[in-house]
Amino acid sequence: MQSRLTKIIELAVPVIAAPMAGGPTTPAMVSAAARAGSLGFLAAGYKTAPAMAEQIHIVRSEGVSFGVNLFAPNPVPVDVAAFHRYAEIIQGEADRYGIDLTAGEPIEDDDQWHDKIAVLLADPVPVVSFTFGVPDRAMITALRGVGTVVVQTVTSAAEALAASAAGVDVLAVQAAAAGGHSGTLTPHDPPPAVPLAELVSQIRAAVALPLIAAGGIAEASGVLAVVSAGADAVMVGTVLLRTDEAGTSSTHRAALTDPNRSETVVTHAFTGRPARALRNTFIDRYEDLAPYGYPALHHLTIALRRAAAAADDPDRLHLWAGTGYRHAMAEPVGQVLTRLVTSL
Ligand SMILES: Cc1cc2nc3c(=O)[nH]c(=O)nc-3n(C[C@H](O)[C@H](O)[C@H](O)COP(=O)(O)O)c2cc1C
Repeated sequence: MQSRLTKIIELAVPVIAAPMAGGPTTPAMVSAAARAGSLGFLAAGYKTAPAMAEQIHIVRSEGVSFGVNLFAPNPVPVDVAAFHRYAEIIQGEADRYGIDLTAGEPIEDDDQWHDKIAVLLADPVPVVSFTFGVPDRAMITALRGVGTVVVQTVTSAAEALAASAAGVDVLAVQAAAAGGHSGTLTPHDPPPAVPLAELVSQIRAAVALPLIAAGGIAEASGVLAVVSAGADAVMVGTVLLRTDEAGTSSTHRAALTDPNRSETVVTHAFTGRPARALRNTFIDRYEDLAPYGYPALHHLTIALRRAAAAADDPDRLHLWAGTGYRHAMAEPVGQVLTRLVTSL
C-alpha cells in the first residue's frame, strides 16, 4: 500500500503531521510525529530564514527525520485602490485596539524565498514541501541534487500534471475541506470543491507519483477511504491543533470546542487568499467586501489579528480549521497519528 512512497520516505505510520504556519506547528510536534513512526513538517511560512534555520537545528538535534514547508511565490497582486478602500472598511475593527490600518501601502514581499532556499541548499534537510506555487524546474533539480525529497501541494489534476512536469518527487493532494490556506495555484479561481477520495482517484489516474492525501481527515475510516482511492499516505492538520505539542493560541483552541462555532467557511477576508476557517464575525462582515491580494491583505490585517489573539477575541482572529475540527482533541500528537491508522 505504501510502497511507492516508502521507497523514498520511511513511514511506519502513514499519517503525516501537516505543516501549519503561524504558530500551531512547533519543533516538538515535528519530533513527536517522527517518534510515532511518521513524519512532520516544520512550517517555514511567515518566518525569517534564520528563524527557519533555528527550528531545523532544534529538530535535527533530536536525531529524527523531518520536512520543511515553504510558501512558494505565486503572488496575487492587490489592486491598490481596492486595498485602501478595504483598509478604511475594516478600520472600525482595529479602532478598539488603537491600531491604524489606513496609513500604509500594500506590502508585496516574497516571504524571504531566496534566503530560505539558500539555507536549504547549503544545509540540506530530508524533505521539502511547497504550497501556493510550483518552483521552477532548476530549483527543484537543485534541491533533489542535494538529496532532498521534494513534495508539492496540488488541488486538482491539472495542478498535479504541472507539478509532475516540474520534476517533484511526491504530491500532497489537498481537498477543499482542508483547514488553513488552500494551496491552489489560481487563488482567484480555485478548483471546484471535490471530496478528497474523488480528488485522489482523479489525480491517481493522471500521474504516477506517490500521493499524500489531505483535507478533512479526522477519523480512521477517512484514512482508509483515501488510501483505498489510491493515496500512499495521509496528512492531517486540523486534528492536531489542540494537541499537547501544538503552539495553537488559547483563543483558537477554545474556539475549536465552542458549541456556537458550528461551521467552517472558505474566506479571503483575512489574507487575500482562500483559506478555510471557523466562521466568525470578521468573515461575516467583510468576506463580500475584501479584494483578493496576497500577501498584501495578510500584512494589512496582521496587527489586528495579533491584538485580537492577545485580547482573547475570536471574532477578529483567523481561526483556521478544516471540516473535521470537532475531532481535534487535547492529547499527544503520537496518539492522534497512531489512532488514525487503526483501520488500515
Ligand atoms: C492552522 C493551519 C495552518 C496551516 N498552514 C499551512 C502552511 O503553512 N503550509 C501548508 O502547506 N499548509 C498549511 N496548512 C494546510 C495543511 O498543510 C493541510 O493541507 C491541512 O491541514 C489538511 O487538512 P485538515 O486541516 O482538514 O487536516 C495549514 C492548515 C491549518 C489548519
